[in-house]
Amino acid sequence: MQTIGVLTSGGDAPGMNAAIRAVVRTGIYRGMKVVGIRKGYSGLLAGDFVEMDLGSVADIIHRGGTILQTARCEAFKSEEGQKQAVEILRSRAIEGLVVIGGDGSFRGALALAKRGVATVGVPGTIDNDIAGTDSTIGFDTAVNTVIEAVDKIRDTATSHERTFLVEVMGRRAGDIALTAGLACGAETILIPEEEYSIDDIVERLQRSFNRGKRHSILVVAEGVGSAMEVAGKIRERTGWEMRVTVLGHIQRGGSPTAADRVLASRMGAMAVELLLQGQTAKMVGIQNNVLAAVDMEEAVGQSHRPDLSLFDLARILAI
Ligand code: ADP
Ligand code: F6P
Repeated sequence: MQTIGVLTSGGDAPGMNAAIRAVVRTGIYRGMKVVGIRKGYSGLLAGDFVEMDLGSVADIIHRGGTILQTARCEAFKSEEGQKQAVEILRSRAIEGLVVIGGDGSFRGALALAKRGVATVGVPGTIDNDIAGTDSTIGFDTAVNTVIEAVDKIRDTATSHERTFLVEVMGRRAGDIALTAGLACGAETILIPEEEYSIDDIVERLQRSFNRGKRHSILVVAEGVGSAMEVAGKIRERTGWEMRVTVLGHIQRGGSPTAADRVLASRMGAMAVELLLQGQTAKMVGIQNNVLAAVDMEEAVGQSHRPDLSLFDLARILAI
Protein backbone atom coordinates (compact mmCIF):
# COMPACT_ATOMS: atom_id res chain seq x y z
CA MET A 1 0.00 0.00 0.00
CA GLN A 2 1.53 3.29 -1.07
CA THR A 3 -1.14 5.91 -0.58
CA ILE A 4 -3.82 6.16 2.09
CA GLY A 5 -6.51 8.75 2.75
CA VAL A 6 -7.86 10.09 6.03
CA LEU A 7 -11.11 11.92 6.72
CA THR A 8 -13.21 13.03 9.67
CA SER A 9 -16.99 12.68 9.44
CA GLY A 10 -20.14 13.28 11.48
CA GLY A 11 -19.98 15.42 14.63
CA ASP A 12 -16.54 16.79 15.52
CA ALA A 13 -14.95 15.63 18.77
CA PRO A 14 -11.93 16.82 20.78
CA GLY A 15 -9.00 14.57 19.93
CA MET A 16 -9.84 14.15 16.24
CA ASN A 17 -6.81 16.30 15.41
CA ALA A 18 -4.55 14.13 17.52
CA ALA A 19 -5.91 11.12 15.59
CA ILE A 20 -5.28 12.79 12.20
CA ARG A 21 -1.73 13.61 13.34
CA ALA A 22 -1.13 9.99 14.34
CA VAL A 23 -2.44 8.67 11.00
CA VAL A 24 -0.33 11.11 8.99
CA ARG A 25 2.88 10.67 10.97
CA THR A 26 2.59 6.87 11.21
CA GLY A 27 1.78 6.64 7.50
CA ILE A 28 4.80 8.75 6.54
CA TYR A 29 7.02 6.87 9.01
CA ARG A 30 5.94 3.65 7.28
CA GLY A 31 6.91 5.08 3.88
CA MET A 32 3.45 5.93 2.56
CA LYS A 33 1.86 9.04 1.09
CA VAL A 34 -1.07 10.33 3.15
CA VAL A 35 -3.90 12.34 1.58
CA GLY A 36 -6.26 14.39 3.74
CA ILE A 37 -9.87 14.48 2.56
CA ARG A 38 -11.69 17.62 3.69
CA LYS A 39 -15.28 17.74 4.99
CA GLY A 40 -15.94 14.03 5.31
CA TYR A 41 -17.75 12.16 2.57
CA SER A 42 -18.92 15.37 0.90
CA GLY A 43 -15.27 16.38 0.38
CA LEU A 44 -14.58 12.89 -0.94
CA LEU A 45 -17.33 13.29 -3.56
CA ALA A 46 -16.09 16.79 -4.39
CA GLY A 47 -12.44 15.66 -4.70
CA ASP A 48 -11.46 18.12 -1.95
CA PHE A 49 -8.08 16.51 -1.22
CA VAL A 50 -4.83 17.80 0.26
CA GLU A 51 -1.53 15.99 0.54
CA MET A 52 -0.41 15.82 4.17
CA ASP A 53 3.25 16.21 5.08
CA LEU A 54 4.83 16.07 8.53
CA GLY A 55 4.40 19.83 9.04
CA SER A 56 0.72 19.79 8.08
CA VAL A 57 -0.12 18.19 11.42
CA ALA A 58 2.26 20.23 13.56
CA ASP A 59 0.75 22.21 16.44
CA ILE A 60 -2.63 20.44 16.40
CA ILE A 61 -2.43 17.73 19.07
CA HIS A 62 -3.91 20.12 21.64
CA ARG A 63 -6.61 21.63 19.44
CA GLY A 64 -10.31 20.75 19.48
CA GLY A 65 -12.37 20.39 16.30
CA THR A 66 -10.79 18.91 13.19
CA ILE A 67 -8.38 20.61 10.78
CA LEU A 68 -9.84 18.50 7.97
CA GLN A 69 -13.31 19.79 8.90
CA THR A 70 -16.31 17.50 8.94
CA ALA A 71 -19.73 17.23 7.38
CA ARG A 72 -22.85 15.17 7.08
CA CYS A 73 -23.47 14.09 3.48
CA GLU A 74 -26.79 12.69 2.22
CA ALA A 75 -25.49 12.07 -1.32
CA PHE A 76 -22.98 9.52 -0.04
CA LYS A 77 -25.77 7.34 1.35
CA SER A 78 -26.92 6.44 -2.19
CA GLU A 79 -25.43 3.63 -4.33
CA GLU A 80 -24.56 6.19 -6.94
CA GLY A 81 -22.70 8.36 -4.42
CA GLN A 82 -20.71 5.39 -3.14
CA LYS A 83 -19.78 4.22 -6.68
CA GLN A 84 -18.61 7.72 -7.48
CA ALA A 85 -16.53 7.80 -4.27
CA VAL A 86 -14.79 4.55 -5.20
CA GLU A 87 -13.96 5.88 -8.68
CA ILE A 88 -12.54 9.10 -7.23
CA LEU A 89 -10.38 7.18 -4.75
CA ARG A 90 -9.12 4.87 -7.54
CA SER A 91 -8.34 7.79 -9.83
CA ARG A 92 -6.15 9.26 -7.06
CA ALA A 93 -4.52 5.87 -6.37
CA ILE A 94 -5.78 5.91 -2.77
CA GLU A 95 -5.76 2.28 -1.71
CA GLY A 96 -6.77 2.54 1.92
CA LEU A 97 -8.91 4.91 3.96
CA VAL A 98 -9.00 5.82 7.64
CA VAL A 99 -12.42 7.14 8.68
CA ILE A 100 -12.50 9.02 11.98
CA GLY A 101 -16.09 9.42 13.13
CA GLY A 102 -19.11 7.81 14.71
CA ASP A 103 -21.57 5.07 13.95
CA GLY A 104 -23.00 6.72 10.81
CA SER A 105 -19.54 7.37 9.40
CA PHE A 106 -18.67 3.70 9.90
CA ARG A 107 -21.75 2.63 7.92
CA GLY A 108 -20.33 4.72 5.11
CA ALA A 109 -16.87 3.16 5.56
CA LEU A 110 -18.43 -0.29 5.48
CA ALA A 111 -20.18 0.52 2.20
CA LEU A 112 -16.80 1.48 0.71
CA ALA A 113 -15.16 -1.68 2.08
CA LYS A 114 -17.87 -3.77 0.39
CA ARG A 115 -16.95 -2.06 -2.87
CA GLY A 116 -13.29 -3.03 -2.49
CA VAL A 117 -11.72 -0.01 -0.78
CA ALA A 118 -9.74 -1.03 2.33
CA THR A 119 -11.20 0.97 5.23
CA VAL A 120 -10.44 1.17 8.93
CA GLY A 121 -12.52 3.22 11.38
CA VAL A 122 -11.36 5.20 14.39
CA PRO A 123 -14.19 5.98 16.83
CA GLY A 124 -14.39 9.73 17.33
CA THR A 125 -17.51 11.05 19.03
CA ILE A 126 -18.24 12.64 22.39
CA ASP A 127 -21.25 10.33 22.83
CA ASN A 128 -19.30 7.11 23.58
CA ASP A 129 -22.12 5.28 21.85
CA ILE A 130 -20.17 2.74 19.79
CA ALA A 131 -20.14 -0.99 20.53
CA GLY A 132 -16.79 -2.80 20.63
CA THR A 133 -14.84 -0.06 22.36
CA ASP A 134 -14.83 1.01 26.00
CA SER A 135 -14.18 4.58 24.99
CA THR A 136 -14.43 6.87 21.99
CA ILE A 137 -12.18 9.84 21.24
CA GLY A 138 -13.69 13.02 22.70
CA PHE A 139 -15.79 11.39 25.42
CA ASP A 140 -13.35 12.07 28.26
CA THR A 141 -12.98 15.72 27.24
CA ALA A 142 -16.75 16.21 27.03
CA VAL A 143 -17.21 14.64 30.46
CA ASN A 144 -14.60 16.99 31.90
CA THR A 145 -16.33 19.97 30.28
CA VAL A 146 -19.62 18.93 31.88
CA ILE A 147 -17.94 18.49 35.27
CA GLU A 148 -16.42 21.95 35.11
CA ALA A 149 -19.81 23.46 34.25
CA VAL A 150 -21.74 21.53 36.91
CA ASP A 151 -19.19 22.41 39.60
CA LYS A 152 -19.84 26.07 38.82
CA ILE A 153 -23.60 25.59 38.81
CA ARG A 154 -23.34 23.87 42.19
CA ASP A 155 -21.84 27.05 43.69
CA THR A 156 -25.06 28.87 42.87
CA ALA A 157 -27.25 25.91 43.81
CA THR A 158 -25.80 25.81 47.33
CA SER A 159 -25.64 29.59 47.77
CA HIS A 160 -29.28 30.06 46.75
CA GLU A 161 -30.59 26.72 47.96
CA ARG A 162 -31.94 25.88 44.55
CA THR A 163 -32.54 22.82 42.44
CA PHE A 164 -30.88 22.80 39.03
CA LEU A 165 -31.44 20.51 36.06
CA VAL A 166 -28.48 20.28 33.67
CA GLU A 167 -29.13 18.80 30.22
CA VAL A 168 -26.13 17.15 28.60
CA MET A 169 -25.48 15.68 25.14
CA GLY A 170 -25.03 12.04 24.16
CA ARG A 171 -27.64 11.56 21.48
CA ARG A 172 -29.39 8.29 22.44
CA ALA A 173 -26.65 7.28 24.91
CA GLY A 174 -26.47 8.16 28.60
CA ASP A 175 -22.69 7.81 29.01
CA ILE A 176 -21.86 11.50 29.35
CA ALA A 177 -24.67 12.03 31.88
CA LEU A 178 -23.75 8.92 33.81
CA THR A 179 -20.01 9.49 34.08
CA ALA A 180 -20.20 13.25 34.61
CA GLY A 181 -23.13 12.86 37.01
CA LEU A 182 -21.21 10.40 39.17
CA ALA A 183 -18.06 12.52 39.04
CA CYS A 184 -19.79 15.69 40.21
CA GLY A 185 -21.99 14.09 42.82
CA ALA A 186 -25.29 14.77 41.07
CA GLU A 187 -28.23 13.98 43.32
CA THR A 188 -30.14 12.45 40.38
CA ILE A 189 -29.05 11.19 36.96
CA LEU A 190 -31.52 10.52 34.17
CA ILE A 191 -30.34 8.36 31.26
CA PRO A 192 -32.29 6.73 28.43
CA GLU A 193 -31.02 3.25 29.40
CA GLU A 194 -32.82 3.40 32.77
CA GLU A 195 -36.50 4.11 33.26
CA TYR A 196 -37.34 6.94 35.59
CA SER A 197 -40.49 8.26 37.20
CA ILE A 198 -41.26 11.79 38.30
CA ASP A 199 -42.68 10.34 41.54
CA ASP A 200 -39.33 8.74 42.33
CA ILE A 201 -37.41 11.95 41.58
CA VAL A 202 -39.77 14.01 43.74
CA GLU A 203 -39.58 11.47 46.56
CA ARG A 204 -35.76 11.55 46.53
CA LEU A 205 -35.68 15.35 46.44
CA GLN A 206 -38.24 15.53 49.24
CA ARG A 207 -36.27 13.08 51.37
CA SER A 208 -33.09 15.08 51.12
CA PHE A 209 -35.04 18.32 51.70
CA ASN A 210 -36.44 16.83 54.92
CA ARG A 211 -32.89 16.04 56.02
CA GLY A 212 -32.07 19.73 55.64
CA LYS A 213 -30.47 19.66 52.20
CA ARG A 214 -31.85 22.60 50.27
CA HIS A 215 -30.09 22.23 46.92
CA SER A 216 -29.89 19.54 44.28
CA ILE A 217 -28.39 18.90 40.87
CA LEU A 218 -30.15 16.65 38.36
CA VAL A 219 -28.10 15.68 35.31
CA VAL A 220 -30.39 14.84 32.40
CA ALA A 221 -29.15 13.06 29.27
CA GLU A 222 -30.68 14.57 26.13
CA GLY A 223 -31.76 11.06 25.11
CA VAL A 224 -34.31 11.13 27.94
CA GLY A 225 -35.96 14.25 26.54
CA SER A 226 -35.79 17.92 27.34
CA ALA A 227 -34.65 18.92 30.85
CA MET A 228 -37.07 21.83 30.57
CA GLU A 229 -39.96 19.36 30.21
CA VAL A 230 -38.72 17.26 33.15
CA ALA A 231 -38.51 20.45 35.25
CA GLY A 232 -42.05 21.34 34.17
CA LYS A 233 -43.37 17.97 35.37
CA ILE A 234 -41.60 18.29 38.74
CA ARG A 235 -42.94 21.82 39.13
CA GLU A 236 -46.48 20.67 38.31
CA ARG A 237 -46.26 18.08 41.08
CA THR A 238 -44.51 20.23 43.72
CA GLY A 239 -44.63 23.90 42.85
CA TRP A 240 -40.87 24.09 43.48
CA GLU A 241 -38.80 26.73 41.77
CA MET A 242 -36.05 25.26 39.61
CA ARG A 243 -33.46 26.39 37.08
CA VAL A 244 -32.55 24.59 33.87
CA THR A 245 -29.23 24.79 32.02
CA VAL A 246 -28.75 23.20 28.61
CA LEU A 247 -25.00 22.86 28.12
CA GLY A 248 -25.19 22.34 24.34
CA HIS A 249 -22.22 22.56 22.02
CA ILE A 250 -19.64 23.68 24.57
CA GLN A 251 -19.44 19.92 25.16
CA ARG A 252 -18.11 19.32 21.63
CA GLY A 253 -15.24 21.80 21.69
CA GLY A 254 -12.10 22.58 23.61
CA SER A 255 -8.63 21.22 24.03
CA PRO A 256 -8.64 17.42 24.42
CA THR A 257 -7.68 15.93 27.77
CA ALA A 258 -4.52 13.85 28.16
CA ALA A 259 -6.64 10.69 28.04
CA ASP A 260 -8.18 11.67 24.69
CA ARG A 261 -4.84 12.75 23.18
CA VAL A 262 -3.23 9.45 24.14
CA LEU A 263 -6.24 7.40 22.99
CA ALA A 264 -6.36 9.25 19.65
CA SER A 265 -2.61 8.82 19.10
CA ARG A 266 -2.78 5.09 19.81
CA MET A 267 -5.89 4.50 17.71
CA GLY A 268 -4.69 6.57 14.74
CA ALA A 269 -1.37 4.71 14.61
CA MET A 270 -3.09 1.34 14.95
CA ALA A 271 -5.48 2.16 12.07
CA VAL A 272 -2.50 2.63 9.73
CA GLU A 273 -0.91 -0.61 10.91
CA LEU A 274 -4.15 -2.49 10.21
CA LEU A 275 -4.27 -1.13 6.65
CA LEU A 276 -0.66 -2.17 6.15
CA GLN A 277 -1.53 -5.66 7.35
CA GLY A 278 -4.14 -5.80 4.60
CA GLN A 279 -7.10 -5.61 6.95
CA THR A 280 -10.36 -3.93 5.99
CA ALA A 281 -13.82 -3.24 7.44
CA LYS A 282 -12.26 -3.03 10.90
CA MET A 283 -12.68 -0.49 13.66
CA VAL A 284 -9.96 0.22 16.18
CA GLY A 285 -11.41 -0.30 19.64
CA ILE A 286 -10.00 -0.16 23.13
CA GLN A 287 -10.98 -2.89 25.58
CA ASN A 288 -9.53 -2.96 29.10
CA ASN A 289 -6.83 -0.54 27.87
CA VAL A 290 -5.73 -2.89 25.07
CA LEU A 291 -6.25 -1.89 21.43
CA ALA A 292 -8.33 -4.31 19.37
CA ALA A 293 -9.30 -4.71 15.72
CA VAL A 294 -13.08 -4.99 15.90
CA ASP A 295 -15.26 -6.10 12.99
CA MET A 296 -16.88 -2.90 11.75
CA GLU A 297 -20.05 -4.79 10.89
CA GLU A 298 -20.32 -5.90 14.52
CA ALA A 299 -19.52 -2.44 15.84
CA VAL A 300 -22.34 -0.85 13.87
CA GLY A 301 -24.74 -3.76 14.26
CA GLN A 302 -24.68 -3.98 18.03
CA SER A 303 -25.95 -1.41 20.44
CA HIS A 304 -23.61 0.05 22.98
CA ARG A 305 -24.49 -0.27 26.68
CA PRO A 306 -23.05 2.03 29.30
CA ASP A 307 -21.64 0.57 32.51
CA LEU A 308 -24.85 0.54 34.53
CA SER A 309 -23.01 -0.37 37.74
CA LEU A 310 -22.05 3.33 37.75
CA PHE A 311 -25.73 4.21 37.79
CA ASP A 312 -26.38 2.05 40.84
CA LEU A 313 -23.30 3.44 42.57
CA ALA A 314 -24.35 7.04 41.88
CA ARG A 315 -27.77 6.36 43.43
CA ILE A 316 -26.19 4.88 46.55
CA LEU A 317 -23.71 7.72 46.95
CA ALA A 318 -26.40 10.36 46.46
CA ILE A 319 -28.63 8.76 49.07
P1 ADP B 1 -21.69 10.02 13.07
O1 ADP B 1 -20.60 9.42 12.27
O2 ADP B 1 -21.17 11.01 14.08
O3 ADP B 1 -22.62 8.98 13.66
P2 ADP B 1 -23.74 10.67 11.09
O4 ADP B 1 -24.70 9.62 11.56
O5 ADP B 1 -24.29 12.01 10.79
O6 ADP B 1 -22.54 10.93 12.10
O7 ADP B 1 -23.03 10.09 9.78
C1 ADP B 1 -22.02 10.82 9.13
C2 ADP B 1 -22.10 10.59 7.64
O8 ADP B 1 -21.83 9.21 7.35
C3 ADP B 1 -23.44 10.85 6.98
O9 ADP B 1 -23.67 12.21 6.69
C4 ADP B 1 -23.35 10.04 5.71
O10 ADP B 1 -22.59 10.72 4.73
C5 ADP B 1 -22.55 8.81 6.19
N1 ADP B 1 -23.50 7.74 6.51
C6 ADP B 1 -24.30 7.64 7.59
N2 ADP B 1 -25.08 6.53 7.54
C7 ADP B 1 -24.76 5.91 6.37
C8 ADP B 1 -25.21 4.72 5.72
N3 ADP B 1 -26.16 3.93 6.24
N4 ADP B 1 -24.65 4.41 4.52
C9 ADP B 1 -23.70 5.17 3.97
N5 ADP B 1 -23.24 6.32 4.54
C10 ADP B 1 -23.74 6.69 5.71
O1 F6P C 1 -22.94 13.13 18.12
C1 F6P C 1 -22.46 14.26 18.78
C2 F6P C 1 -23.59 15.20 19.12
O2 F6P C 1 -23.04 16.34 19.75
C3 F6P C 1 -24.70 14.61 19.99
O3 F6P C 1 -24.33 14.52 21.35
C4 F6P C 1 -25.82 15.57 19.71
O4 F6P C 1 -27.08 14.94 19.91
C5 F6P C 1 -25.62 15.90 18.25
O5 F6P C 1 -24.26 15.61 17.94
C6 F6P C 1 -25.90 17.35 17.91
O6 F6P C 1 -25.76 17.48 16.54
P1 F6P C 1 -25.68 18.90 15.83
O7 F6P C 1 -24.34 19.47 16.10
O8 F6P C 1 -25.89 18.55 14.39
O9 F6P C 1 -26.77 19.74 16.41
